[in-house]
Amino acid sequence: MAATGHTDGQAARGETFEAVLARRVARRSFVKGALAAVPLLVAGPSLLGWGRTQAALDGLTFTPISPGTEDTVVTADGYAADVLLRWGDPLFPDSPTFDVAAQSAAAQARQVGYNADFVGFFPLPRFRARSASRGLLTVNHEYTNPELMFPGYEAGSPGRDQVDVELAAHGLSVVEITRVPGGGWRAVTASPLNRRITGETEMALTGPAAGHGWLRVSDDPTGTRVRGMLNNCGGGKTPWGTLLTCEENFNQYFANSDGLPSADPRQAIHLRYGLPGGASERRWEDFHDRFDVSREPNEPFRFGWVVEIDPYDPAWVPRKRTALGRLKHEAATAVLAADGRVVVYTGDDERFDYVYKFVSGGRVSSRREANFGLLDHGTLHVARFDDDGTGTWIPLVAGVGALAAWSQAEVLINTRGAADAVGATRMDRPEDIETNPVNGKVYCVMTNNTRRGASGQPDVDAANPRAGNRFGHVIELTEAGEDHAAGTFTWEIFMLCGDPRDPAHATYFAGFDPGQVSAIANPDNIAFDRRGNLWIATDGQPGSLGAHDGIFAVPTEGEQRGFVRQLLSGPRGCEVASLDFTPDNDTLFCSIQHPGEGGSLAAPISTWPDGTQPPRPGVVAVTRTQPGAPIVGA
Ligand code: FEO
Ligand code: CA
Ligand code: CA
Ligand code: CA
Repeated sequence: MAATGHTDGQAARGETFEAVLARRVARRSFVKGALAAVPLLVAGPSLLGWGRTQAALDGLTFTPISPGTEDTVVTADGYAADVLLRWGDPLFPDSPTFDVAAQSAAAQARQVGYNADFVGFFPLPRFRARSASRGLLTVNHEYTNPELMFPGYEAGSPGRDQVDVELAAHGLSVVEITRVPGGGWRAVTASPLNRRITGETEMALTGPAAGHGWLRVSDDPTGTRVRGMLNNCGGGKTPWGTLLTCEENFNQYFANSDGLPSADPRQAIHLRYGLPGGASERRWEDFHDRFDVSREPNEPFRFGWVVEIDPYDPAWVPRKRTALGRLKHEAATAVLAADGRVVVYTGDDERFDYVYKFVSGGRVSSRREANFGLLDHGTLHVARFDDDGTGTWIPLVAGVGALAAWSQAEVLINTRGAADAVGATRMDRPEDIETNPVNGKVYCVMTNNTRRGASGQPDVDAANPRAGNRFGHVIELTEAGEDHAAGTFTWEIFMLCGDPRDPAHATYFAGFDPGQVSAIANPDNIAFDRRGNLWIATDGQPGSLGAHDGIFAVPTEGEQRGFVRQLLSGPRGCEVASLDFTPDNDTLFCSIQHPGEGGSLAAPISTWPDGTQPPRPGVVAVTRTQPGAPIVGA
């Protein structure tokens, strides 16, 4: 790890990394298992392993709001949502002032990007887990809405300048934030830790597939260097305090896969990943050959990865970790196994695609830098959910069984094909997958799949039990022996979403009285508070429930298990894409993505957050209006 220009609290005063960890471990002695085996943890409680001493009381005291229809962020009484970051906000002292009528790629690369998705809070100083008054907020910029970014944008024939602004509006922002006296947070524009990563930032390909012939292109004959990351949706944090950010629907940026001969095995793979045969909708290929598959047939193989980034070091080269497979990764959640290996859960957000987990070969070290190669060696598995409530993690290992004729690089580049071959269970669009820090179980979110059970499509099964699944569901998975590295698991449906007052649709809320819960649909990203309550951000309620997307909380244990309540509703046209708590649960950061989608600058449907055009995606900080009160009660 390179030093940064920023001092780092205790470490800067000479205390060693190991000493900080040892003290933190002593404080957290209530946590058993993984911590006893490996005296290292540097981030928040969501990274902890098994721990069961917490009482089952949920600490949720708010009165739920009604389904939202207003063009603003509405919260339950006693809570406030302050806008913290907006598209175009300055990140550096020299950032140009945002001007929608005169945007440029150079300006955009110095400003907050578009369509905020994953938000992750990393405390400053680095090893202070609780009550940090400063921190780094990492925010993905998943994609662009050019019809909401450029006055007069013409779909199908963008200008070169517009395409280059879009490339610069993708990626990630790292922003230092600090508490404001009296409550709330503000961005620190002058912080030397601030960073923008775009669709043009150089990054490395690492792990078993790096250098493979299919990763080599004109720009990079070595197959080890890539320009940019695209469509970064969800993410996660590692126990050593780095960020995992996940490339999802990368297929939409590429064009002309029909330009490959049908006998070329790469064409079938591109088809399996949904690349267009002809022109792309975005038309980036008109100005950049790398997005034209007929010219650069391997460039798409360099996207669809989990990218590791050290947010504490602005000079750190981002690394695409090929060992975690290539798919439309929603998110990646890292947690320690009983023996100290790291396990990363991830899902492939496509109808009838799969749930995965990676188990590292090595164990987490107390020396931070020693973990920077940990995600390059290990075994990727895919889940088979059996109808009797059991399941198996099938290793995706080349040379064995159905993969006898494959190389490991092929398995990792064509992960979907490998999972097809071994007979994994085809799911209803796996979105986020996270581990509960209190009960140790794993929660797998299926957002919807209206094609389930349709003619010529896979039928319902026990893990995907509704035909024409409009509302989505959540599966609760328990690893064998309470070990995240286990090869088998049991599972049950935790929640079948929908409006329980609509008799036309089956709903289920972990057995809780459906007459008392908030209607909820299309669960997408999730987080846990320190009490083990599950918090859900939704994506798609306008189309399924006729209400805006929002944030919901639901206890996972005790008498109120399944009692889902709505805390927040977003503005018109948005999805509430992601959420993360400060370690003290004092603040909940939420991303508001694509406000106004469905409209355009000429025909707007949203003016969030400023009451003017254009709408600006961004991040809000949710706090209690009572000073010092946490989001979740003690
Ligand atoms: Fe970008 Fe799966 O949502
Ligand atoms: Ca998502
Ligand atoms: Ca999450
Ligand atoms: Ca989604």
